[in-house]
Amino acid sequence: MAFRRKLTVYVCLCHGITERQVRECIEEGAQTLYDLQGQLGVATNCGSCAGHACEMLQEHRAGRALADPALHCPGTLMAAGTAAAV
Ligand code: FES
Repeated sequence: MAFRRKLTVYVCLCHGITERQVRECIEEGAQTLYDLQGQLGVATNCGSCAGHACEMLQEHRAGRALADPALHCPGTLMAAGTAAAV
């Protein structure tokens, strides 16, 4: 029988904020580090977690861009269902 353990990954140790909390906040509409700071308090003490939080925001944006390339790159042209950057 396979053993699976759920891991809690912390983004912000100062405030005990987990990746799951940050991901949920982003999915609920947070778009900037300021949004995450205001809603969760991430990166409001020592600030060493700001990079990780920003990476999560960028990953979310990239995922949206993959789903709809027109969302991500302002210079993107849609042609026959494919995207080409200009
Ligand atoms: S680790 Fe997030 S503010 Fe210090």
